[in-house]
Amino acid sequence: MPPNTGLDVRPLTSGDRAAWELLWQAYLDFYDHALPSGVTDFTWARFGDPAEPMVALGAWADGVLVGICHHVLHRSTWAEGSYCYLEDLFTAPAARGTGVGRALIEATAAVAREAGAEKLYWQTHARNDTARALYDRVARHEGFLVYEYPLS
Ligand SMILES: CC(C)(COP(=O)(O)OP(=O)(O)OC[C@H]1O[C@@H](n2cnc3c(N)ncnc32)[C@H](O)[C@@H]1OP(=O)(O)O)[C@@H](O)C(=O)NCCC(=O)NCCS
Repeated sequence: MPPNTGLDVRPLTSGDRAAWELLWQAYLDFYDHALPSGVTDFTWARFGDPAEPMVALGAWADGVLVGICHHVLHRSTWAEGSYCYLEDLFTAPAARGTGVGRALIEATAAVAREAGAEKLYWQTHARNDTARALYDRVARHEGFLVYEYPLS
C-alpha cells in the first residue's frame, strides 16, 4: 500500500478513549491476553495524568484512529537522563503497510528526546516477523534476550 502522507500523530486525550479502546482490545486479542477491565481503566487514567511517566500517542488518518503507541519513561542506573520503554504498538489491520507504525515510533522518539531521555528501546517476540520487518528498518537489534522470573 502507498504511504499515508496525511497522518496526524499526537498524544491521546480524554475524548479519545472509545477509539483507543477498540485498538487496545484488538492489541490484547493479538496477544491472546485477557486484561481485567480495571487495569485498562487504570492505564487510561495514567495516560491522562501529567504526573505519570506514561504517554499514549495515536495516529489519525482522515479522522480515524489507525494506530496507538504507549511508552514509559523510567530512571536508569546508567544515565542521569531517563530511558524510554516503548511498551505497546498496534496499527489497525486495514491501515498496515502505510507507514503508521513507523510514524508512531518516530513520534515516540521525538517525545522521548524532548523529555531528555537517553535511550529508546522495546522488545518483541522472536517470531513476530511483521514487527521485526519494521524494527529492523528503524532500529538496531543489540542481541539481548528477555527473561521473566515468576513473582506469583
Ligand atoms: C507491527 C505493526 C505495528 C507494523 O505496523 P505498520 O503500520 O504496518 O508498519 P509500517 O507501515 O510503518 O511499516 C514500516 C516498514 O516496515 C515494513 N513492513 C511492515 N509490515 C511488513 C510486513 N508484513 N512485511 C514486510 N515488511 C513490512 C514496511 O514495508 C515499511 O518499510 P518502509 O518504511 O521502508 O517502506 C503492525 O503490523 C501491527 O500492529 N501488528 C500487530 C501488533 C504487533 O505485532 N505489534 C508489535 C508488538 S512488539
